[in-house]
Amino acid sequence: MFALHYHDETKHHFARFARSLSYLDWATQPDPFRRYIGAPLVEPPRTPVAEAVPYTALFDGTAPAVPVTRESIGEFLRCSMGLSAWKQYGASRWALRVNPSSGNLHPTETYVLAEARVWHYAAREHALEERCVMDESAWEAWVRPPAGDAAFLVALTSIHWREAWKYGERAFRYCQHDAGHAIGALRLAAAMLGWQMALLPRWSDARVGTLLGLDRDADFPDAEREEPECVAVVAAGDLSWWMDQAPGPLVEASGRGSWRGTANRLSPSRIDWPIIDDVAAATRYPGVQRVGAISHGIGATSHQVGTMSHGVGAGSHQNELLARTIILQRRSALAFDGESGLGRDAFLTMLRRLQPAGPPWDATEWPPQVHLALFIHRVEDLAPGVYAYLRDPAVLPEWKAAMRPEFLWQPVDDLFLLAPFDCRRLANRVSCDQDIAADGFFSLGMIARLESSLHERGEWFYRRLYWECGLIGQVLYLEAETTGGRATGIGCFYDDPMHEVLGLRGHGWQSLYHFSMGVPLDDPRLTTERGYAWETR
Ligand SMILES: Cc1cc2nc3c(=O)[nH]c(=O)nc-3n(C[C@H](O)[C@H](O)[C@H](O)COP(=O)(O)O)c2cc1C
Repeated sequence: MFALHYHDETKHHFARFARSLSYLDWATQPDPFRRYIGAPLVEPPRTPVAEAVPYTALFDGTAPAVPVTRESIGEFLRCSMGLSAWKQYGASRWALRVNPSSGNLHPTETYVLAEARVWHYAAREHALEERCVMDESAWEAWVRPPAGDAAFLVALTSIHWREAWKYGERAFRYCQHDAGHAIGALRLAAAMLGWQMALLPRWSDARVGTLLGLDRDADFPDAEREEPECVAVVAAGDLSWWMDQAPGPLVEASGRGSWRGTANRLSPSRIDWPIIDDVAAATRYPGVQRVGAISHGIGATSHQVGTMSHGVGAGSHQNELLARTIILQRRSALAFDGESGLGRDAFLTMLRRLQPAGPPWDATEWPPQVHLALFIHRVEDLAPGVYAYLRDPAVLPEWKAAMRPEFLWQPVDDLFLLAPFDCRRLANRVSCDQDIAADGFFSLGMIARLESSLHERGEWFYRRLYWECGLIGQVLYLEAETTGGRATGIGCFYDDPMHEVLGLRGHGWQSLYHFSMGVPLDDPRLTTERGYAWETR
């Protein structure tokens, strides 16, 4: 299986990192903003639509549904893929976004299909580039159910070069993490607006590419190409009708449409990493012919958030927090203070949000394949040590058999204590010697069922395992903000040393993403401006 070969080839080892240029070639640094030159730019109204929605509504599906309009689609994009801030240090100025990205390189591009148009989202301008106008009646026939409200589609692509510029061969993994974070950001923004959202299982990557015009060679004369990732439907009610719709008529309608715009070139030159092209080809999704009984109605579970008695999170009742505020304030910590602790209730609440019920988990159709191995440093009433958290309790015998025989598997609340000890040095070491893995409340590895899931479903599932990791990360990023803490995704870790810690052998279970959380230390040298100058708050 090529995906397994790619996975092995792109591991970081103590003695050797995955292949990359090993230095940053600033002359070829990619432009973080794709534009389609010549495509008309449409600015959606800039009024916030969902300022009063409580944070907990992101997960329990209780936000009232707003009508699908340009204004609400604008809000959806602003609160998922828009800019969150501009940072400056000396002469360097760079944008941060609502969705995180490895190295802040942002390989993920967003498209919206609505009003019989294919729009590319220009994040810097918070505007829609009109790439294609298609036949109105063909669009309406595809998107409007016999007696119901219209939906719209949102699609994601990756520009591998943006990540490969810095990270070389390992970059494909990061593109997939980022796509997972983006799916999570989109799904939670949809929940804020009272909408449902789910990936469309019948759409092959090839079909998504044609729909978005990614295979229009003339529109990419010397520009870096985009790899299709996924397309999702967004609507207020049950999504089953769109889940079952055959892609063909819509692909044909966009093919017959009138296209405008030429993709900008992101770098004056670039280096090819053939293994990335090969793994992308090996993991393309073929689409399914028919959809089984997939139900995407409302009815998500609601989690009660307990109040804290002491520790971080004390008095920070999630029920009083606003979804939009938390979404827009999400950032990665650059360093943690090395002393603050996390309240036990807040910790258990965030773990419960990783159970696959309701948003964002209803965006995807597969049961959990990714579980957590945690290095707990400072969580109230929990002994420091290595713990396991299972997102599906049925995995317990499998994990026990796969891991070190000396592990305790002692139940502690929703977790299992595997080995009690001060694991800060170990956590730091396996996460590429990064202090953020040791100085926070905890860090963790997301351990995925790799080989058997690819055998059962196909190599295309390799991408989805990373998407699942990205979804977990996105939820934890937001949860961290609700405790007064902050999180950071960790793509740089030593793969097999982490497996050695847990006693994992072979390709059965592999760590795909690490993560950390704590109380951040700010860098006073950086200045911060709003993501959009026109926003007053
Ligand atoms: C997949 C992924 C991997 C990351 N890996 C690391 C890492 O190894 N070390 C680190 O300090 N930050 C890491 N980050 C954090 C990014 O650097 C951060 O998201 C980016 O700079 C944008 O900043 P923001 O999250 O504040 O918007 C990672 C983020 C993602 C999404």
